Amino acid sequence: MGKHISWHASKISKTDRHQLNRHKSAVLWFTGLSGSGKSTISVELEKELFQLGIHVYRLDGDNLRHGLNANLGFSPADRKENIRRIGEVARLMVDAGLLTLAATISPFREDREQIRKLFDEGEFIEVFVKARVEVCKARDPKGLYRKAEMGKIKNFTGIDAPYEEPKSPEIVIDTEKLTITESVQVILDYLKQNGYLQ
Ligand code: PPS
Repeated sequence: MGKHISWHASKISKTDRHQLNRHKSAVLWFTGLSGSGKSTISVELEKELFQLGIHVYRLDGDNLRHGLNANLGFSPADRKENIRRIGEVARLMVDAGLLTLAATISPFREDREQIRKLFDEGEFIEVFVKARVEVCKARDPKGLYRKAEMGKIKNFTGIDAPYEEPKSPEIVIDTEKLTITESVQVILDYLKQNGYLQ
């Protein structure tokens, strides 16, 4: 950060925005392997929340790589930067009063923990979208596992790049057992039970 940079505080607090919106803001950070169900669940959840009148917005790792993160690849350093940027955008959105859904593999525990530190207590909700790599490989919705196994994609998560499972996520969604509708319901219940939605 440059030496001659200052901070201009707003006269509108996050609490003011929560009162106007009639719900709290937070980020639900979906992490999991490619094909685990992060995007599918977050798309459905976004729709459900919107229909409930919640100010919600989704940040999808794949989508952001078309623009904001177009200059990043899949090395550990690029993934770290990818997640840092998504975390910072999510922080702005939470500050703006939005319930934010971030869906990104975010394979490194340390990187996710760094993002958690950007937020106040209760504002970062880690959602582990859990499915074994063999299951994701069998699903292979985009044909990427097949390409990775043929050596056509390098550093593919779960094949020749690591995925570190969260140790104590707020929510675990086992997509080998739950349907999409059930998965969405688990998250809605969590949000209601923990006072995020009025
Ligand atoms: S990360 O690890 O969080 O920086 O990845 P993310 O921004 O979520 O992007 C993951 C999507 O990129 C596609 N893709 C790859 N994934 C993993 N490893 C490699 N090498 C790779 N190359 C391309 C893939 O479509 C991922 O999307 P999802 O939705 O996870 O399947």
